[in-house]
Amino acid sequence: MYLKSIKILNFRNISEENLTFHPKMNYFWGRNGNGKTNFLESIYFTSNLKPIRDLLSKNLIFFQESFFSLYSEWVGVKEDRVSIQLNGDKKQILWNQDSIKNVQEYLYNFKTMLFSPDDLLIIKGEPEKRRKFFDKSIFQISKNYYLLLKEYEHFLKMRNQLLKEPLDYTKKQLLDVIDEKFSSTSISIFKQRVQYIKKVTPFLDDILKKLTGGELFFKINYNTEFDYSSEEIFLKNLRNSFFNESTRKRTLSGIHLDDFSFIRDGKNIRNFGSQGEIRLSILALKIAHINYIFHEIGEYPILLLDDLFSELDINRKEYLLKFLQNEKAQTFITSTEIDNSFLELFSENFQKFRVMNGKIDRDS
Ligand SMILES: Nc1ncnc2c1ncn2[C@@H]1O[C@H](COP(=O)(O)OP(=O)(O)OP(=O)(O)O)[C@@H](O)[C@H]1O
Ligand SMILES: [Mg+2]
Repeated sequence: MYLKSIKILNFRNISEENLTFHPKMNYFWGRNGNGKTNFLESIYFTSNLKPIRDLLSKNLIFFQESFFSLYSEWVGVKEDRVSIQLNGDKKQILWNQDSIKNVQEYLYNFKTMLFSPDDLLIIKGEPEKRRKFFDKSIFQISKNYYLLLKEYEHFLKMRNQLLKEPLDYTKKQLLDVIDEKFSSTSISIFKQRVQYIKKVTPFLDDILKKLTGGELFFKINYNTEFDYSSEEIFLKNLRNSFFNESTRKRTLSGIHLDDFSFIRDGKNIRNFGSQGEIRLSILALKIAHINYIFHEIGEYPILLLDDLFSELDINRKEYLLKFLQNEKAQTFITSTEIDNSFLELFSENFQKFRVMNGKIDRDS
């Protein structure tokens, strides 16, 4: 599937644009602060229904305006049209003229992979960043994972709520019921996470070999303090920790507390990797993921590469270019300059755009 066109109104610093894209390579160049990332975010928002960073969607409305709208047309096995309007806090989304009945289906259908300067946080940031990264990756491959996570969040919220209150007999009974569901969803999510690591690892090994010529090699580890080996054991441990939980007034076990680490020669890249090595590791993880998706589903997500090349040395850049050139993924790249050696590789097979002051023009 690829994005054929988008109509943007009042989104960040882009007041009005009507753009048609190349099915493969789209190159956006312009100076700092002119709207390149904002433009990528319009695509990101359309496919993820949320902003790139953790902030409220209404912040994406052009300053002083009251709404934004994004209308996009997608071409694949079937054609999709998506219309999104945000008016203050009110979001209206139409998918082929119908309101979305199934968010999971929608998000699964429109897959994007963003490469951004903030990606460093996947390794350097708090565990939550890694959980989000892996959870989203797993969902792109396994549709039901989204519901599983939502269920888990729901039970977790209920548990935490109950733990805040003095528990009478009925509430304690309710907690017992929730605990069973909480344990079974915990274990299902744990299993899918471990399965994902196992399945993506051969793709990661392969990319690392090609990307770094064997210089950088690491493994993904799943870190947990809890025993997920069976529902009975997890539930028993959960109930044993009740006293502790009711004193601390929150849930103290489960997959919302687990973490992932990247281990090279027995050491965590987070603590010992150089800035460049961390960047490369994330790049490798992301490419491994999209190759795995392609292997499973026969389709690539849409790739949004925000200012990626400025971060890479010449060898990695060449590798990445070859990858982009060979694969069928539709790609949107931003850069502060025109890189002719890059564009030559794509001969006639790309569209160039100039981004200036929130205006985006085709650039021939
Ligand atoms: N809601 C908004 N309304 C209007 N302008 C906004 C809004 N949000 C952000 N901006 C403006 O958008 C500009 C940043 O745009 P963007 O991040 O897309 O730039 P960029 O071209 O990616 O720059 P760089 O090359 O530095 O990454 C800032 O000047 C910011 O003030
Ligand atoms: Mg930017």
